[in-house]
Amino acid sequence: MTDNIDIRAAGARRLKDKVCIVTGSGQGIGKATVLRMAQEGGKIVVSDRIDESASKTTNELKTHGADVIKIVSDLTTFSGAQELIEQTIDAYGRIDVLVNNVGGTIWMKPFHLYNEKEIELELERSLKPTLWCCRAVLPIMMNQNQGSIINLGSQSVRGLYRAPYASSKGGILALTKVLSMEYGRYGIRVNTVSPGGTDIPDRITSRLTIKPGIEVKDLPKEESERYREEMIADSRSQQALRRRGTPEEQAAAIAFLASDDAEFITGEVINCSGGQ
Ligand SMILES: NC(=O)c1ccc[n+]([C@@H]2O[C@H](COP(=O)([O-])OP(=O)(O)OC[C@H]3O[C@@H](n4cnc5c(N)ncnc54)[C@H](O)[C@@H]3O)[C@@H](O)[C@H]2O)c1
Repeated sequence: MTDNIDIRAAGARRLKDKVCIVTGSGQGIGKATVLRMAQEGGKIVVSDRIDESASKTTNELKTHGADVIKIVSDLTTFSGAQELIEQTIDAYGRIDVLVNNVGGTIWMKPFHLYNEKEIELELERSLKPTLWCCRAVLPIMMNQNQGSIINLGSQSVRGLYRAPYASSKGGILALTKVLSMEYGRYGIRVNTVSPGGTDIPDRITSRLTIKPGIEVKDLPKEESERYREEMIADSRSQQALRRRGTPEEQAAAIAFLASDDAEFITGEVINCSGGQ
């Protein structure tokens, strides 16, 4: 049997011609993911609410010869998610992969220091965009009888000082499992990649930005740094590999789940966290 294996084809272009949406791909893990998916042959939809960073990612992909479009929409609302899905269908006629990457804690502090509005903003950032995008894409994938959804989780579900964000990510783990069970019969796979602490060297938009151009206030610097350092030390102490990750390491796990190499894998979580 080994005589028939084409070594060049194995793994090299796993996403050839697959239409792949990555939300929040203007920077960070999302950006590394679209670069990886384009390398693997995907047709890419760069999605972000910040036009400047979405354009930067899109232009970078174009210079590498990728087939790519940019869609700017705010995914805190269902209508924003629908816009993304409808414009993708207008451009490419199908959706094979949706990566729900938008998210990220806004604050790091003990739960009693969050006010009501801050808790709502954390859920709006890290739970709702994934809920809305899943809801908007499922009818398309059901019609196709095919699709792969990858949600972004986090190790915050077992860490300090991000209770509202961790609640969002816990919700995403539940959503992943339930949707995998409800929609497997339509050939749709739903999985989660849960990163550990990942350095984002070229972040354009800060986590404190709640709308383009609008930032919320953090605690005084010294206090927020103290919580941040304690949080990082706590997660490091739980980790086997004892270092922070890179966006490219997350992108590799996401691309695997998107590809047909993972075609019998659904409802699972890959903890891409150095063994946390
Ligand atoms: N970086 C880490 O250490 C880390 C660790 C664990 C989990 N994660 C998860 O990985 C994902 C990506 O993290 P990151 O650090 O690369 O994020 P990031 O904050 O660097 O980038 C997020 C992108 O999403 C966009 N965005 C935010 N809200 C949006 C909205 N409502 N609509 C459209 N676009 C929006 C931002 O403009 C930004 O470009 C998140 O879900 C995060 O929770 C990250």
